[in-house]
Amino acid sequence: MSGIFISFEGPDGAGKTTALNSLTPKLKALTEQEIVVSREPGGSPIAEKIRKIILDIHDQEMDDRTEALLYAAARRQHLVDVILPTLNADKILLSDRFVDSSIAYQGGGREIGTKEVAEINDFAIDGHLPDLTIYFDISPEVGLSRIRKDHQQAMDRLEKASLDFHKRVHDSYLKLVHDNPDRIVSINADQAPDQVVEDAVNVIIQRFPNVFNGGR
Ligand code: TYD
Repeated sequence: MSGIFISFEGPDGAGKTTALNSLTPKLKALTEQEIVVSREPGGSPIAEKIRKIILDIHDQEMDDRTEALLYAAARRQHLVDVILPTLNADKILLSDRFVDSSIAYQGGGREIGTKEVAEINDFAIDGHLPDLTIYFDISPEVGLSRIRKDHQQAMDRLEKASLDFHKRVHDSYLKLVHDNPDRIVSINADQAPDQVVEDAVNVIIQRFPNVFNGGR
């Protein structure tokens, strides 16, 4: 397999999805290799159906472990349908969220346990970890205030959870960054949007200088 797999992670309100939208064309201009952008939960037809079930605002009574298993199931399908074929075709796959989201949100946030959630995800991903993970760091307070300003009516079920939940998610992300220094690079997301994008692009160029070399 010769493609490159990069995931993007962060707490709600980190601006990760917006940053991904503007950094993708910048990366495309720097390489001849094709770039495919995907997201979780979802990213393929079956995985998107599972996403609808998980994020349905009415399902307040969903069991925490059911939720964790559904995320892992959606991830498995996304991996098989999109990620592996893209990497096998020598392309670059950018995924908005991947396994670290489950460890932080279900393991830490929902307090199932990071080890337990990592284990069910090991079964789902079968060793296919990203080559690089960019983590957009934002404090839970700033992250949540951004969400409230942006789309007060459209908060989904998980975003409605308490500040304590978001603090546990943030703490778990910091532990993941600490425990995986070779894979995960943390970026300060509490800066001007352009600066955040520039930082992310620079991390990617530095990690893969032969691929993002301006098409030379
Ligand atoms: P989404 O609308 O895609 O938000 P974002 O732009 O923040 O990624 O919703 C994804 C939500 O699902 C987000 O609150 C994080 C959560 N999530 C988990 O709890 N576990 C997971 O494994 C994944 C992939 C996402």
